[in-house]
Amino acid sequence: MENNYESTLVLLKPDAVRRKVCGEIIARFERKGLTISAMKLLTLTPEMAAEHYAEHKGKPFYLGLIEFITSGPVVALVLTGPNAVKMVRNMMGATDPANAAPGTIRGDYAAIMSKNIVHGSDSIASAEKEIAIYFTEQ
Ligand code: TYD
Ligand code: MG
Repeated sequence: MENNYESTLVLLKPDAVRRKVCGEIIARFERKGLTISAMKLLTLTPEMAAEHYAEHKGKPFYLGLIEFITSGPVVALVLTGPNAVKMVRNMMGATDPANAAPGTIRGDYAAIMSKNIVHGSDSIASAEKEIAIYFTEQ
């Protein structure tokens, strides 16, 4: 497709659902011009969480991360648009909300690293792998 059209996988994590801010966060992505290509509410199984976060297995924060991401429903979205992977990462802000600039989603909504409200794929390869965890071809 023209203009580097890409798709990326976004999760609004259990803290976003609990705090009832999913609509606000989705509105930011839509206002930016990203298209919602797929969306659903689901609770991750431990197997899905392990696949999603395979790169972090064995790290000190891994078990807490799996426990948190499976602790309640998440909203999974595929967002599509020009340079969507990088655009979403820029809109999310730094992993640690203490370092996330005001105006970014984490900068505006989150206070601690383990509950940083949103996930976005970090590369086109990650996006393809992650989209396949949550959505089938149709
Ligand atoms: P990571 O992939 O490094 O960050 P990002 O979500 O920005 O791609 O880490 C995955 C998640 O793991 C991160 O969103 C929050 C959690 N995490 C911690 O709880 N402690 C940490 O020290 C790190 C690096 C991440
Ligand atoms: Mg990551």
